[in-house]
Amino acid sequence: RNAVGVQTASDASINGDREEHDLCNWDELKFSLIPTDYMYVMKCSSGEGAFSQGHLTRYGNVELSPSSGVLNYGQGLLEGLKAYRGDDNRIRLFRPEQNALRMQMGAERMCMPSPTAEQFVGSIKQTALANKRWVPPPGKGSLYIRPLLLGTGAILGVAPSPEYTFLAYASPVGNYFTGSMHFSVEDKVYRAIPGGTGGIKSITNYSPIYKAVTQAKAKGFTDVIFLDAATGKNIEEATACNIFVAKGNVISTPPIAGTILPGITRKTIIEVASWLGYQIEERAIPLEELMNADEAFCTGTAIAIKPVGSVTYQGQRVEYKTGEGTLSETLFRTLTGIQTGRIEDTMGWIVEI
Ligand code: COI
Repeated sequence: RNAVGVQTASDASINGDREEHDLCNWDELKFSLIPTDYMYVMKCSSGEGAFSQGHLTRYGNVELSPSSGVLNYGQGLLEGLKAYRGDDNRIRLFRPEQNALRMQMGAERMCMPSPTAEQFVGSIKQTALANKRWVPPPGKGSLYIRPLLLGTGAILGVAPSPEYTFLAYASPVGNYFTGSMHFSVEDKVYRAIPGGTGGIKSITNYSPIYKAVTQAKAKGFTDVIFLDAATGKNIEEATACNIFVAKGNVISTPPIAGTILPGITRKTIIEVASWLGYQIEERAIPLEELMNADEAFCTGTAIAIKPVGSVTYQGQRVEYKTGEGTLSETLFRTLTGIQTGRIEDTMGWIVEI
């Protein structure tokens, strides 16, 4: 075990020195963990207030105090971003400083110190470079990088942890969902409440909805759309993605007002769609509006852009256009074109490593 309490895995227990082409079956990538070579670790102790210089270490288990803040009280945040290999074989990150800013915003809400944007982006570049051989070939997927900010200090009383760990690991991934999304609308369980943590990437935002999502999946749905807890009338988001509704030339999405995760793909799509001449509206969207839309789609780092195939609410099922010629298809091509270097980045969104 090294000084930061990280158990190092032996080279043999991971993937030794195998070359890129035989690391894994790139054609069968899913959104599931494939352990890679290195992770990045940085610490911040109480009193210091700032993260000290971090470092790469072999990917492996992390040793935690049984009374760590994260294990006992869920004091933690996650992020997600991807490294893409282009046809030119270059590796690009997409707007990583936005993840840094979102982590800082979440840390402020969760009473945690956070890495500076420079430390965050530097750690992501190092993690991607150290695991470069795991960035899938063009068109096969991407390297998903998962930064975590955790209260790792021991604490028994209900209070902020005395020590924090920033950690970033990586896994090659394929599609989060294949095909289009078939949603049920959840009207008993709420994902977020006003004043809660739905607007940040708290680790505690996800497991409370597992039961609702598991039940929906058992009925054949891909995922669930959650409604706003205050009125139960407006759509908010799905388990791990934002939602957009299109009608004519107008594209609408729920506003960032504390209960919606401020997605970086969401933000990007708002900008890209307005260049393409669409009218964008960020506002409360009643469920009926979704049920009467021409098209609907979801956005997120893990899923990129996925068309909504159907929405079912209280036995009523509505189907939408998907595939060739749809708006989500155009947006998908534009977004992934920029991310992989096929379309010129005129916005300074790409960080090449
Ligand atoms: C992402 O899209 O990166 C997410 O964080 C969603 C999920 C996998 C938690």
